[in-house]
Amino acid sequence: MPLSGAGKGEGLLLCRRTPYTPAVEHRFPKFAPEMEWLQRQRLHWSELARRLREQLPQQPHAAVILGSGLGGQALPAPLWQCRYEELEGFPRSTVAGHSGELRLCRLSGIPVLLFLGRFHLYEGYRLEQVVVPVILGWLLGARAFVLTNAAGAVNPELVPGELVLVRDVLDFTLRSLPVDGEFRRHYSCCFLPRTWRRAVRECIGAQGIACVEGTYAAMLGPMYETPAEIRFLRFAGADVVGMSTVHELACAVALGCPVLVLSLVTNAASGNRAAPLTHAEVLSVARQSARQLWRCVEIAVAQMPAE
Ligand code: HPA
Repeated sequence: MPLSGAGKGEGLLLCRRTPYTPAVEHRFPKFAPEMEWLQRQRLHWSELARRLREQLPQQPHAAVILGSGLGGQALPAPLWQCRYEELEGFPRSTVAGHSGELRLCRLSGIPVLLFLGRFHLYEGYRLEQVVVPVILGWLLGARAFVLTNAAGAVNPELVPGELVLVRDVLDFTLRSLPVDGEFRRHYSCCFLPRTWRRAVRECIGAQGIACVEGTYAAMLGPMYETPAEIRFLRFAGADVVGMSTVHELACAVALGCPVLVLSLVTNAASGNRAAPLTHAEVLSVARQSARQLWRCVEIAVAQMPAE
């Protein structure tokens, strides 16, 4: 179902009727006038959220969006689950390795929403569809987000199976959320909180799992990068490359939520290897490392900042 094409006047009207929540008010008091777009997304999904709230046995405190092949057997038993097809108006997962399910689980004793499968611009989805899991998660009560993805190693020191805690992003999709003004100026200092990252990194290290911090570069895809693009990304400071995550990150930050991004290195990036890269290779490494990644997600949830 297309998003409501509320015109400018209509959006403003809706803004006046539904005030910003305390979380947004508290963190970004000056942003409200620029948040008309965000407000529209929230209104659009509010009816679905209301219906889901009636079904969920508990209110989630956080949401996790899982990337390619990163679900499967590693996941805990759900308290509740449904398929994306059952959610009216919700996009469908079209990429192999994204099963397209929404679950509620307890992780480290905390009720958490799991989105098994995300939406990409290269699937033909619009920006507002790509960020739907974040909007719906937020409407259902999630106030912190963990985003995972499979990524190629631009930094030649990274090897498949290694985990990268993302400390910064390079957005080469060149598609920004239409939330302007103050938010854009403050975005870079309020995303990917350092204290949460550090706490997670220490706990991961204590469990003997190798994990480094790095910069994630987002490309539009769906083709993997050319060798020249990888050389360029390395020169620009990227450690890993993928085709997702940055818009979900921006949306969660705009909603006033802390975000932790975990990239699983599934392959050497296309400029750093002899054989051509395939999605099957990405999925195979992702599946082998799913248990380890899942352990890190649990740690991330256990360490998430209090509201
Ligand atoms: N490039 C882009 N996206 C990816 C890659 C890659 O090498 N690996 C997994 N997702």
